[in-house]
Amino acid sequence: KESKDQLIIDAGQKYFGATMCKSCGMIYNASSPEDEMQHVQHHHRFLEGIKYVGWKKERVVAEFWDGKIVLVLPRDPSYALRKVEDVQELVDNELGFQQVVSQCPNKTKTFLFISDEKRVVGCLIAEPIKQAFRVLSEPTGPESLSSKECPRAWQCSNVPEPAICGISRIWVFRLKRRKRIARRLVDTLRNCFMFGCFLSTDEIAFSDPTPDGKLFATKYCNT
Ligand code: ACO
Ligand code: ZN
Repeated sequence: KESKDQLIIDAGQKYFGATMCKSCGMIYNASSPEDEMQHVQHHHRFLEGIKYVGWKKERVVAEFWDGKIVLVLPRDPSYALRKVEDVQELVDNELGFQQVVSQCPNKTKTFLFISDEKRVVGCLIAEPIKQAFRVLSEPTGPESLSSKECPRAWQCSNVPEPAICGISRIWVFRLKRRKRIARRLVDTLRNCFMFGCFLSTDEIAFSDPTPDGKLFATKYCNT
């Protein structure tokens, strides 16, 4: 079960095709030395990045049978902020996002889902916003075929609606997906973002969602 053993086992399989590392989740071609080298590099960086040793002062905002959620605020000790930075870098890398400069960095709230294996397996970054544009449901029927000019897979309304909280990033470690980790992160955010009230799904907005993000958000907001 140790990650090092896993690495050797995976790298040792001479598949002519893609294989997925059971520790870091990278999909690569084990029969290609270049791929293998890239994997080794990614493997160590990734596992180092998501390693969570535990902090003297940590703000546990939710606890579950399979982990807990820790909230990190902008004025927290530098070891906590550094961990958030490392995780965000891994997430941005995976999403192919450029380093996005936050609108108001001193109001950012970061929620980390820590697994029982002491790893950061989920991350949600939120900040206050004033308005959002509702995603219009995907057009169905023949007219949707003529929307070739539209570079996006979906469209947004151009009428701004008031919102309170924007989710700028949500990410769950590939090997831990579909275990309701993202759902629990958003539930916890709604509960903790503003003192004394539970935000409705209309008051939160997902910024620039990926296809995965959109599937999750649609499901989450309808249930
Ligand atoms: N396809 C279809 N439905 C999905 C998917 C998916 N990929 N992901 C979630 N859902 C729906 C399901 O209905 C699911 O419930 P079910 O498993 O009982 O059917 C429900 O949403 C709840 O899903 P969770 O288990 O809570 O979601 P998960 O922990 O797997 O995390 C996430 C979802 C964060 C989108 C994850 O897939 C991920 O990290 N993807 C890569 C990063 C990414 O694209 N993040 C979104 C960027 S957009 C932004 O940051 C604003
Ligand atoms: Zn690996």
